[in-house]
Amino acid sequence: MDLDAETVRNYRKDGFVLLPGFASPEEVTALRKTFVDLFARRAGRKEGCEFDMLGHDEDDEAPVQPQILDPAYYASELRRTPFLANAKSAAASLLGAPPSSTFGHAILKPPGAGVPTPWHQDEAYHRDPNSEFEQVSIWLALQDVTTQSGCLYYLPGSNRGPVLQHHRVGDDPKVHSLECMPGEFDERDAVACPVPAGTAIAHSGRTLHAAGANTSNESRYAYVLAFQLPATRRAEPVAFPWNHDVQTARIERQRRWRHGSGLVVDINRRIGNRVRRVTS
Ligand code: NI
Repeated sequence: MDLDAETVRNYRKDGFVLLPGFASPEEVTALRKTFVDLFARRAGRKEGCEFDMLGHDEDDEAPVQPQILDPAYYASELRRTPFLANAKSAAASLLGAPPSSTFGHAILKPPGAGVPTPWHQDEAYHRDPNSEFEQVSIWLALQDVTTQSGCLYYLPGSNRGPVLQHHRVGDDPKVHSLECMPGEFDERDAVACPVPAGTAIAHSGRTLHAAGANTSNESRYAYVLAFQLPATRRAEPVAFPWNHDVQTARIERQRRWRHGSGLVVDINRRIGNRVRRVTS
């Protein structure tokens, strides 16, 4: 989907932009069905792709907020969706050049009490101190999302500032999610983005964002595709110390799987990803 100049301008100014009617009702229904199934069977669990992003991610505990990375490994129809094609072309407009790589992830906010997704910049997760790259994430609502069911919140203009100080939620190295340190920004400037099903929201890797708790009685599913421009070398290396001593159960599962039963599958996936990058 090509975006008009005003949409691109607003994205560059605010760091996020709403894209109404980005996926058809039929596509939203089909995608939601896929993700209901993937989350129900915890697809990718043993490989470290399915994990609890806000809890300790123990096998015998109900997850606080499950996430699935690279869901197309477990539902190949996700490689051929109109959403993927439209998001890729929208990303090219927003980044100013065709993206060189992409990955997908899906997030489930279970109904009930829930917890908010803390304020963070996606760029704070980057690990290489010597390189940087521009990223845009295109988040798709798979049902109507309200302030009660965990809509996104953004801090306009934070995309034009630096990467702020973060820490791991609860200063707990076993928790995946990062949180921007309080005092680094003023939450009163935040904009809530309740949206109907099928609306997408694009945000940059630098944009400060959060999501509310899901206190409704329905699960909230969202599907996100992230696109990157090629990495460039930083003039000065940057350290993100909050990424140094991560000890999540997910990383441990991934390590065990890659060195054991998943060795061949993992190599094939990496080759496949490289071929896709070159050919698509
Ligand atoms: Ni994020």
